[in-house]
Amino acid sequence: MDFNLSEEQLMIRQAARDFAQTELLPGVIERDEKQEFPTEQIKKMGELGFLGMMVSPEYGGSGLDTVSYALAMEEISKIDASASVVMSVNNSLVCWGLENFGTEEQKQKYLTKLATGEVIGAFCLSEPEAGSDATSQKTTAIDKGDHYLLNGTKNWITNGSSADVYLVIAQTYPEKGHKGINALIVEKGMPGFEIGPKEQKLGIRGSDTHSLLFTDVKVPKENRIGEDGFGFKFAMKTLSGGRIGIASQALGIAAGAYDLAREYSKVRKAFGTEICNHQAIAFKLADMHTQIEAARHLVLKAAWDKDNGSNYDLSGAVAKLYASQVAMDTTVEAVQIHGGNGYVKEYHVERLMRDAKITQIYEGTSEIQKIVISRSVLRD
Ligand code: CAA
Ligand code: FAD
Repeated sequence: MDFNLSEEQLMIRQAARDFAQTELLPGVIERDEKQEFPTEQIKKMGELGFLGMMVSPEYGGSGLDTVSYALAMEEISKIDASASVVMSVNNSLVCWGLENFGTEEQKQKYLTKLATGEVIGAFCLSEPEAGSDATSQKTTAIDKGDHYLLNGTKNWITNGSSADVYLVIAQTYPEKGHKGINALIVEKGMPGFEIGPKEQKLGIRGSDTHSLLFTDVKVPKENRIGEDGFGFKFAMKTLSGGRIGIASQALGIAAGAYDLAREYSKVRKAFGTEICNHQAIAFKLADMHTQIEAARHLVLKAAWDKDNGSNYDLSGAVAKLYASQVAMDTTVEAVQIHGGNGYVKEYHVERLMRDAKITQIYEGTSEIQKIVISRSVLRD
């Protein structure tokens, strides 16, 4: 067993760390306050290869492994979880889905631009009445010969207004249940495609979350991903890898809050000594460190499973379930260690605490991860 990272993985981690410090940290508080999308920063992330990390160089990607991606996600998330969710959706849902299941034409037309960040993508599964219960798709894609006629509403879509390419899951044959679902590539600007208002959120406020409305949108047949009826499997297979990205995000949020709390405890004095000398604070740091180390091992193991052809449905769900809980616990304690300063914006930990919560909700809630995990362990 080798726990060492390769030279390349260390280099990627350092590059992401440097980028986060120099490009994301300045302005992160203001973007959160104003709910402002990090447009310039995302553009630079594309130029540096952070938006198509695992895509083959043949399609404009960086050709890196999932471990490198997880390391970069952790570093970006320590500073700006709004930027990292854009990165996660583009890399592990949109690019990965297209590279693994798209046709050569779809890859040439869409993936090459998505991998370089020339455009960004969105993944559209959730609906007002189909969140956790994802097979209950109400959006319809009716087969009209050379095209599908798309009608319905998608909810909570990350990159909702900033994306140009949308992977939309919709029901073609309701009588076939999940086996009648398709995944279609929809472009911004297709007639009948409207973007709803931006959601006002608790956390990851720099990311743009919107509902999407489709009214008789004509989507060419060549925009279907995979065989007829493959759409639900497509979504599930893609989300298995996506969950590793969100687990890395949760880990980064936790690690970012821990770093701040540890440093703060070494300079803040109470009762004539630095607060880290009070055992109650030192023990909190010990617990935080232990939980973060455990989460990091689970995240990297899931990424390693994906890189090595092992099944990662289970390890990805385990990593997401645990890391998101660690993100919540650690950020709450980081605020506590900061005392009153933890409750105000300039110390960053209150934002990290708000950002942490979403990691227990999207890409499958914690309850859904437990369903995936329990079904897997009982089956095995
Ligand atoms: N890989 C391949 N196929 C899979 C699969 C996987 N990981 N998981 C399930 N399937 C297949 C099953 O094998 C089954 O197919 P067959 O009938 O041919 O065997 C089919 O999918 C249906 O599976 P289930 O019978 O298990 O379906 P279910 O209704 O019990 O639900 C579920 C399964 C796991 C709960 C699923 O509905 C689910 O994952 N829900 C959560 C949805 C989710 O994660 N949404 C995230 C939206 S994207 C997002 O959130 C992005 C973001 O925030 C940034
Ligand atoms: P519900 O499914 O209504 O769940 C409500 C509660 O009931 C939860 O606690 C849930 O765990 C629990 N529950 C439901 N079913 C069960 C069960 N069988 N057993 C036990 N408990 C259960 N979706 C996309 O498709 N693309 C995106 O880009 C995207 N981005 C998002 C960004 C944000 C900021 C948010 C908030 C959401 C985003 N989502 C996205 C949607 C997200 O994936 C869903 O919110 C999530 O899957 C939960 O669905 P729901 O909100 O309908 O909750």
